[in-house]
Amino acid sequence: MTKIAACFLAGVLLPVGLAGAATTSDTGPSKVWPITGRTQIAQAKTSQGSEQVKTLSPQAPVSMPQPVGSFPTNAVTDRPYVSPEGGVEGYKKTVGALQRTLTELQQLQLQTKEAHWNVSGTLFYSLHELLQEHYEGLSKYADECAERLLAIGSSSDGRASTIVKTSAIPEIPGGYIDDAQVIVWFTNAYKTVGEEIRAGIKDSQDPDPTTSNLLQEIEHGIDKYQWQMRAFVQGTHTDPNTGFDINNNKSVDLPSQPSKIDPNGK
Ligand SMILES: [Fe+2]
Repeated sequence: MTKIAACFLAGVLLPVGLAGAATTSDTGPSKVWPITGRTQIAQAKTSQGSEQVKTLSPQAPVSMPQPVGSFPTNAVTDRPYVSPEGGVEGYKKTVGALQRTLTELQQLQLQTKEAHWNVSGTLFYSLHELLQEHYEGLSKYADECAERLLAIGSSSDGRASTIVKTSAIPEIPGGYIDDAQVIVWFTNAYKTVGEEIRAGIKDSQDPDPTTSNLLQEIEHGIDKYQWQMRAFVQGTHTDPNTGFDINNNKSVDLPSQPSKIDPNGK
């Protein structure tokens, strides 16, 4: 019998003997089993140990294509959980505030990575590094937000289709993107998202102060990121910093916002 034929036979016959055959063959002369034989034996050993788990937790059948559902979908558990106050209305406000924030954080995660990779120009390295830092912060906040939804008895909706259909901020343009455009895009996007989260803080503060506190922490981070982008084109008394030097000899497209505080104290 050739070696190939022997290996083929071992692959077919070994699974029949299962764990017993595997034990004796460990010490036997033919240690070189075909991959299929090893995999099947490993699976047989694993399934013997997890028989009880399988009985307790049968796997749900997966249907294809998956049902689409509405956007977003926040299903409420039928098991005991610590619920926000304020009845159905309070619950909806709290879930809505968290879900909106989650969607925007996920949208920002995608856009920070897109810009991290494609940013070009004089400020490439500063923005490349800063966007990575923002991405990591956004990922942490998104996870906390999603898990707070679960903690108050609601599923969280992190589907790509939900982001596309419900986010208030657009996608960043594809392809290489100039450093000035990245600064303008994120200065505006973080402002929009910060204001959305601030509204959510107010919505949730009565029914669920814990959620409101979490959203405060997240808004704190978003406002910081907004400043870190805005600072690239912050005007000073020695330099109006219009972005002229990084935007092909044109001012950056950031309208000025009237100041609420008079620096002279009048
Ligand atoms: Fe990277």
